[in-house]
Amino acid sequence: MKLELKGITKNFGDFRANDNITFTAESGKIHALLGENGAGKTTLMNILFGLLRPDAGEILIDGVVQKFSGPNDSMASGIGMVHQHFMLIPVFTVAQNLILGNEPVKSLGVIDIKTARKSVKDISDRFGFDVNADDLVEDLPVGVRQRVEIIKALSRDAEILILDEPTAVLTPQEISELIQILKQLKEAGKIIIFITHKLKEVQEVADEITIIRRGQVVGSAKPSDSESEMAALVVGRKVSLTTDKKPAQPSEVALEFKNVSLVEKTGAIRLQDISFQVRKGEILGIAGVQGNGQTELSEVLLGLLHPTQGDIVLNGKSLLKMSVKERLNEGVGFIPEDRNLYGLVEDFSVEENLVLDSFDRLPYGKFGSIKPKAIRASALDMAQKFDIRLFNVADKARSLSGGNQQKVVVARELNRPLQLFVASQPTRGLDVGSIEFIHQEIVAQRDNGLPVLIISTELDEIYDLSDRIAVMYRGHIVGIVDSSTDRSTIGLMMAGIDPSQSKTGKAA
Ligand SMILES: Nc1ncnc2c1ncn2[C@@H]1O[C@H](COP(=O)(O)OP(=O)(O)OP(=O)(O)O)[C@@H](O)[C@H]1O
Ligand SMILES: [Mg+2]
Repeated sequence: MKLELKGITKNFGDFRANDNITFTAESGKIHALLGENGAGKTTLMNILFGLLRPDAGEILIDGVVQKFSGPNDSMASGIGMVHQHFMLIPVFTVAQNLILGNEPVKSLGVIDIKTARKSVKDISDRFGFDVNADDLVEDLPVGVRQRVEIIKALSRDAEILILDEPTAVLTPQEISELIQILKQLKEAGKIIIFITHKLKEVQEVADEITIIRRGQVVGSAKPSDSESEMAALVVGRKVSLTTDKKPAQPSEVALEFKNVSLVEKTGAIRLQDISFQVRKGEILGIAGVQGNGQTELSEVLLGLLHPTQGDIVLNGKSLLKMSVKERLNEGVGFIPEDRNLYGLVEDFSVEENLVLDSFDRLPYGKFGSIKPKAIRASALDMAQKFDIRLFNVADKARSLSGGNQQKVVVARELNRPLQLFVASQPTRGLDVGSIEFIHQEIVAQRDNGLPVLIISTELDEIYDLSDRIAVMYRGHIVGIVDSSTDRSTIGLMMAGIDPSQSKTGKAA
């Protein structure tokens, strides 16, 4: 099978998101699409999947021009897509979501939920997904939701499978499992289009690499190219893949977790006796395999969850009795792991989102009135500083590309006076150039004396930023070590093995 996109052009108003893109893909190959945040990758794939109509250009499968008036048409032509943003309905079960994803609406009524359950189980078993057909999607962590999306796509007998940043929300273990799946699908003769910002994944799995910048194809790379060669092609300049930083100059203790536990009514232990300190001017990284209590730790800190025991103290004041809003007002800057759930109001404009925590305060507002000019000026400033690619700050946040939405959240949280900065997966979905910038910003905040807590399942990110590293396992902290500790020790700690005997092991 051969897929051809010829001269695809797509405008949103006066903004050209895809500019005469030509792209060919063949059976039995994995085609990686690389490009900066906002380059137009998702737009192109939405056109291929029939979600958007191109203004010019055509799609051909085996030389036959396709006319898609919606995803039902593209699915009928054998195209499946795993979206960048979850398309699942949270109040439905996994199996119910599968039905909605797979069937034309008109036949919904006659679909047998048993068939959908069996399909979930079969695919889940086959690929080791560990997904339960009857779980409610809203109860599932981000990583599992993504797997449901993949199951949905795999449950169609798609010949062309589009995966738009499927690995952004997966753990390293899940990523290697997915990569195995992609290889199996490739062996089975499928056409795989794989979008990612992680160059190591591209090196490992891609056969062909196409690079898009500002809506145009600017070239191709080879899987054997080095990460820095690829990064330079993507961004159009040299990118530093690690952050230069001086040793930390920590001063007094700012944040303190004192024996914090969170035990559910069922007896399930989510957090167990967590104690650590973060000093002003240092970055504490929290490492661990996703699902070992990191989400809960960030949520008790922000006030979204309430510990059953212990205390959380910021600059000598307990946070426990404060609401989320009061904690934000205390100067807690927070980047949530799921930006679409907690980080952004997608139907608000970009400029409104940029002042979400502070629109009621000067310079943006006072006594219940808001000052649109000040909001606009500051939004334009932030968009420039953080290189947020957008057409108009008055556009809805929903219209931004995934990485640019993330940049809105980071910009907002770093742009107000802070006493503490907490970031969960701060660079999820960002391109290499933006990661370089955000990491530099975080280190600059540290150097200005801010205490920083970084939660990341990406060990590269933990190492790049942290001064000390705490490792979580099954709701507790296995140990807190210096960032010079080698990866194999951290790896053991991530499996729950206590390093207190090791020389580098250092108590909190
Ligand atoms: N519905 C829309 N209305 C207006 N502009 C849009 C719309 N959809 C996308 N855009 C703009 O088109 C550009 C390309 O977006 P797209 O989502 O395709 O980028 P991307 O390459 O997938 O980026 P990322 O890596 O961040 O996901 C962005 O600048 C975005 O703001
Ligand atoms: Mg995208």
